[in-house]
Amino acid sequence: MSSAWRVSALKDKPMTEDELIALARAAAARAYAPYSRFQVGCAVESIDGNSVTGANMENACYRLGLCAEQSALTAAQHKFGLDQVARIAVVGGTGDMVCTPCGGCRQAILEAAQLSGRDVEILCASGDGTRVERYAISALIPHGFGPANLSDGEPA
Ligand code: THU
Repeated sequence: MSSAWRVSALKDKPMTEDELIALARAAAARAYAPYSRFQVGCAVESIDGNSVTGANMENACYRLGLCAEQSALTAAQHKFGLDQVARIAVVGGTGDMVCTPCGGCRQAILEAAQLSGRDVEILCASGDGTRVERYAISALIPHGFGPANLSDGEPA
């Protein structure tokens, strides 16, 4: 799906930005991040206003740690389906910097975006939610490889 996103996710806003970020902040508070002490929370909103959350979960075997976004996207698949994802909020850290998804999480979000045909909007916020930057997934991972590449232009 290099050319056309079916719908702009920016048009679908069943929840306010503050509400979605508040959900992500509540999730971050329940992160399991004893090694990095960097708590990340993620809230995923569906096109019809459902939501799920996730947080990072680390492990004594460091490389097995799970990011907040992938945790939340797993929950999203089980609650309403990746193809229903419309918007995502990510919050993390304790300073002024907003938390943008890591490269792996961008790829995971692209999977949902191509399935839904939506240029999923990502609200990237600082841990206290006071700073927010907004990005479309197409800006965070341009020219990405996704399900569209494997299905001749049509999402699986
Ligand atoms: N982390 C996330 O949960 N999401 C991201 O997009 C960036 C990083 C987590 C992984 C690790 O538990 C901690 O933040 C520090 O890297």
